[in-house]
Amino acid sequence: MFIHKLELVNFRNYEHCKIEFQTNKTILVGKNAQGKTNLIESIYYLAVLSSYRASGDSELIKKGESSAVIKAMVEKSFTNVNLDIIINPPKHKLLKVNSIKKSGYSQFLGNLIVVNFSISDLLLLRGSPSDRRKWIDDSISQLYPAYIDRLHKYNKIRVQRNNLLKEFKGNINLTQSQKDSLFVWNEQIIKSGSNLIHLRMKYLKEIQSRACEKHKFISFGEENLLVKYNSTITGDFDCVEDEIMPPEKIAELYSINISQKQAEEIIRSQTVTGPHRDDILFFINGINAKNFASQGQQRTIVLALKLAELDFIKSITDENPVLLLDDVLAELDQSRQNYLLDSIGENIQTIITTVDISNFPPEYLEGVTIYNVESGKIKGI
Ligand SMILES: Nc1ncnc2c1ncn2[C@@H]1O[C@H](COP(=O)(O)OP(=O)(O)OP(=O)(O)O)[C@@H](O)[C@H]1O
Ligand SMILES: [Mg+2]
Repeated sequence: MFIHKLELVNFRNYEHCKIEFQTNKTILVGKNAQGKTNLIESIYYLAVLSSYRASGDSELIKKGESSAVIKAMVEKSFTNVNLDIIINPPKHKLLKVNSIKKSGYSQFLGNLIVVNFSISDLLLLRGSPSDRRKWIDDSISQLYPAYIDRLHKYNKIRVQRNNLLKEFKGNINLTQSQKDSLFVWNEQIIKSGSNLIHLRMKYLKEIQSRACEKHKFISFGEENLLVKYNSTITGDFDCVEDEIMPPEKIAELYSINISQKQAEEIIRSQTVTGPHRDDILFFINGINAKNFASQGQQRTIVLALKLAELDFIKSITDENPVLLLDDVLAELDQSRQNYLLDSIGENIQTIITTVDISNFPPEYLEGVTIYNVESGKIKGI
């Protein structure tokens, strides 16, 4: 997979910018607040249809403007694909693939697959469960675009179910018609939620084996990484020991869980369990890394996860995803930097941002295209 051309109009601090990627390795150099991360964010948006750092689409539009455009020409399976996004809130964003309008996210996703490793990812373990859910949801959506539709459907069902719970006004003694209405929404959320949990377990099991191997290597064979899916429905799913549960089995547990939680949900007027409350846990040598791992160990975990994602995507799609490294190299020590740069190899399109090019090993700079980013403008060097 290769991004040949990228064009931004009124995206963040870019009024209009065009960039052509000529070599597999590109470095964007610039002082702070010039637009390096904004450019990486636009590429991420093309791959995921949401930002990893904006709270909403309006934030992405240049101040004073009403819409933003991201366009790209991407090579996928030896074929060039033109992607167009117009961000125009409150309207739905306009999506086009080869000039043909796409009505659903799932029809657009999958044309560009990225692995993004930015400085904020280093906080993945310490961050909130919603950060970890965003990571897994974005990753799965790129590989299985239908996942995004299922996730949106689940969220819609949840909002409607919450509205119904609110109508009960905290009274747990439901009338027959209230029970019937709740039953209908329960059936829907169980089916939809079980499917998401099943897909997350499946994804994490693939990532676990690859990440564990890389983690072991970086830690000189001393540390064993274990990933668990911490579900409010099924309990902890050990990605090494446990078999992936089929959706029907998850649905059985869901049904029990939801009837146990009924009174609490009515009192709180909200859906208190389900994939929107699940989390991912990481253990090093059996100890929960969130509370006990040092900063360096946490970085090793995130590095291992990102490299595991690269491998897994390659194994499924038979193509390398595009790797985005935003400010992250300077945060890794020499041995982790070397491991990362060596692992990338020659064939992966890699776009790196930095404030200081002198941090790079000279051998890495051979055959690299370097661009200067200055006040929302890109200049060749
Ligand atoms: N919607 C927007 N409209 C206009 N400018 C924006 C918008 N959103 C962000 N900016 C500006 O874009 C500038 C560049 O941000 P960016 O995060 O890309 O910087 P950077 O080059 O990555 O810097 P650093 O080295 O500090 O990470 C910031 O000054 C920010 O205020
Ligand atoms: Mg930045």
